[in-house]
Amino acid sequence: MSKMLLLLVLLSLLNPAVEALDNGLALKPTMGWLHWERFMCNTDCDTDPDNCISERLYMQMADMMVKDGWREAGYEYVCIDDCWPSHERDAQGRLQPDPKRFPGGIKKLADYVHSKGLKLGIYADVGEKTCAGYPGSLGYYETDAQTFADWDVDLLKFDGCNLKWTLLGDGYIKMSKALNKTGRSILYSCEWPLYEWPFQTPNYTAIRETCNHWRNFNDVFDSWISIKSILDWTASHQDSIVPSAGPGGWNDPDMLVIGNFGLSHDQQESQMALWAIMAAPLLMSNDLRDICPRSKELLQNRRIIEISQDPLGKQGYRSAKGNSFEVWERPLSKNRLAVAVLNLQEIGGPRGFAISGVAGWKVCDPQCNVTLILPEYKEMGVQTKESKLILKVNPSGTALLTVTPISKDFGRIHWKDTD
Ligand code: GLA
Repeated sequence: MSKMLLLLVLLSLLNPAVEALDNGLALKPTMGWLHWERFMCNTDCDTDPDNCISERLYMQMADMMVKDGWREAGYEYVCIDDCWPSHERDAQGRLQPDPKRFPGGIKKLADYVHSKGLKLGIYADVGEKTCAGYPGSLGYYETDAQTFADWDVDLLKFDGCNLKWTLLGDGYIKMSKALNKTGRSILYSCEWPLYEWPFQTPNYTAIRETCNHWRNFNDVFDSWISIKSILDWTASHQDSIVPSAGPGGWNDPDMLVIGNFGLSHDQQESQMALWAIMAAPLLMSNDLRDICPRSKELLQNRRIIEISQDPLGKQGYRSAKGNSFEVWERPLSKNRLAVAVLNLQEIGGPRGFAISGVAGWKVCDPQCNVTLILPEYKEMGVQTKESKLILKVNPSGTALLTVTPISKDFGRIHWKDTD
């Protein structure tokens, strides 16, 4: 074996993570806005012009993203979901937007979004029709990929409705290649495993090689039951899905519904904290023109966003469960750790949780620094293995914190310096 080959083998042993789709995108979980959960398939621009799926909606969201600090916080993609196209392809077989709702066309919308320093996402489907019954891409993968590239689109959400499940893999892979062939960098968001799970365990190695993120489970709704079901599904499948996440490819537990109607503030904090722990894409689906200040502050909380975007790119997992608490941990760069403690008891008041019991607390040997991020920011100072820190967690709320080890070496160097 040549030295080079030996080196490569050694390197691959050191880094067993499966290969990601090599398009240079989604090195950190995608951040942006996606219309579906909040605006769904509202095409009635006559009676509901402010909320219908039209170019105006995305232009207004792009305006808000710049004006209200979203772009600065890291939210970058403005994404169209289902119901944008006309029911007919054009004479050349290309998808076209509904002419009444998108009079300027998608290219012009992309130019507008780009002029704001943002990126535009679009939606299509691997099968014969989209989930809402608009034309699907089956038989048109190359045409549609080229159309999106010609329009200067930056992201494609590719749904999995209306296709025999045995053809899903082939379809998703073909579209991935078609996008690549256009030469334009288009982030590729898939729903391949979601549609495959009912029939067989998806091949996450192939999925990671094909997509930049992938939905595994049901659509998110604006309710605590929905958030809990997503967390439960994720935790109970974590052994098969967590290892496949990393720079370039992420598990997608669906949109953030923070700022809508269904979640209490504590529940919104839980969604934000756990989506950061899960290294999930942070795609908000809400109305940025009308959002309460507390939800906005939460979505723009830079300490939580820092956890989400941590350069180590490891997805967190549920490490303990009991007494109606769940502990989730995410390893961070520089040997740091993020810990979320979720109180699932939906009766009574705040309950205490002794943090030193969590598995990752070993990074506090001999000492660590603890920063509480939720429910409020607070430097908890230097702690040790024996510290008796008690967190107070509200019903259906989450305490989120980071733990930073203080190394022995640092202590010694420090001594010498001050000697
Ligand atoms: C599916 C997807 C949703 C959304 C709708 C649109 O249900 O999972 O995220 O895109 O289709 O019809």
